[in-house]
Amino acid sequence: MKIPKETLKNLIKTKLHKAGLKEGHADIVADVLAFADARGIHSHGAIRVEYYSERIAKGGINTNPNFTFEKTGPSAGVYHGDNGPGHVAAKLAMDEAIAIAKETGVAFVGVKRISHSGALSYFVQQAAKEGLIGISVCQADPMAVPFGGSEPYYGTNPIAFAAPSKDNEMITFDMATTVKAWGKILDARSKNESIPDNWAVDQQGEPTTDPFQVNGLLPIAGAKGFGLAMMVDILSGILLGLPFGNRVSTLYGDLSQGRNLGQLHIVIHPGFFTNSEIFKQNISQTMADLSGMKPAPGFDHVTYPGQGSASREKESEQNGIEIVDEIYNYLTSNVIHSDNYGNKDPFASK
Ligand code: NAI
Repeated sequence: MKIPKETLKNLIKTKLHKAGLKEGHADIVADVLAFADARGIHSHGAIRVEYYSERIAKGGINTNPNFTFEKTGPSAGVYHGDNGPGHVAAKLAMDEAIAIAKETGVAFVGVKRISHSGALSYFVQQAAKEGLIGISVCQADPMAVPFGGSEPYYGTNPIAFAAPSKDNEMITFDMATTVKAWGKILDARSKNESIPDNWAVDQQGEPTTDPFQVNGLLPIAGAKGFGLAMMVDILSGILLGLPFGNRVSTLYGDLSQGRNLGQLHIVIHPGFFTNSEIFKQNISQTMADLSGMKPAPGFDHVTYPGQGSASREKESEQNGIEIVDEIYNYLTSNVIHSDNYGNKDPFASK
């Protein structure tokens, strides 16, 4: 079923507000989730609302957080998330990072003790919309096997990057350091689809195509993706004095407890390194170079990172966002949550 983005956002906002979030916070979370669905990142859109609602109801997302920003240096700061909704803290922390980078050329803002913050492209695009480069990394619960390891240690620890071009367009690169984000497995489960055999392993550590048998996610490019996940964990966990590695809290563990996750935003003002307008022109040139390149056999064209999501976003503005019936039915029902997630083995199929 296809519904307009505004309708989806309002349904999500209403549900999260009923679950207990303040209206303003519910509005921001809904904006981030509807953004993800509009860009085709369904793994981080409305599919998460029931889980968030259960965590809110059980106390594991603080509905009355004391958000504070502590400036710790000319270009550094820590945003204290007080285990409130991660999307809100991450958004407000990016606002602080943008303000600092406009003054000093660069900003490093740690977002400390938050719950899950969703698709990171939302936050890096905040910076790109201001003519700045945005980078963001965050911890996720331990679900990925290290290269050569047999049990999960790091999370899907994503890395996102956005850079502005002229004409208000941008490059947005946003990826989990596992071949796929955990949400993509959830998405496949919700659609009863199989997954490619290089995404995940089963309980024996063997590659699996059944999303219900997944017991560990594989890092991208073997040891290299494992190294990137480690870098993300150091920057958004150890650097901020937070739990790290397999000590990071789990998505579906004790839902009455805050997750204490970390995220790091880095913002760079191009004008402190080159001419800002030439920077944007050259980003546009890069995009044009890539789009105009002769494709390899089997490809229609080369797409620059974020191009597919941007065209899906434009398409959804015209024709609405595709939402699976089960999620739509939940969003339009009176049910807040159905006790599906608490103390659940993250890999459990039911
Ligand atoms: P993905 O695999 O769908 O895409 C990764 C990147 O590759 C994107 O930038 C995309 O534009 C680019 N890309 C994909 N196909 C391309 C093509 N044909 N040509 C050029 N570029 C292409 O994304 P993934 O890794 O599944 O992550 C999905 C989302 O999950 C992200 O938004 C990420 O931030 C989010 N996430 C959030 C977590 C959290 O705890 N908050 C944890 C893990 C992921």
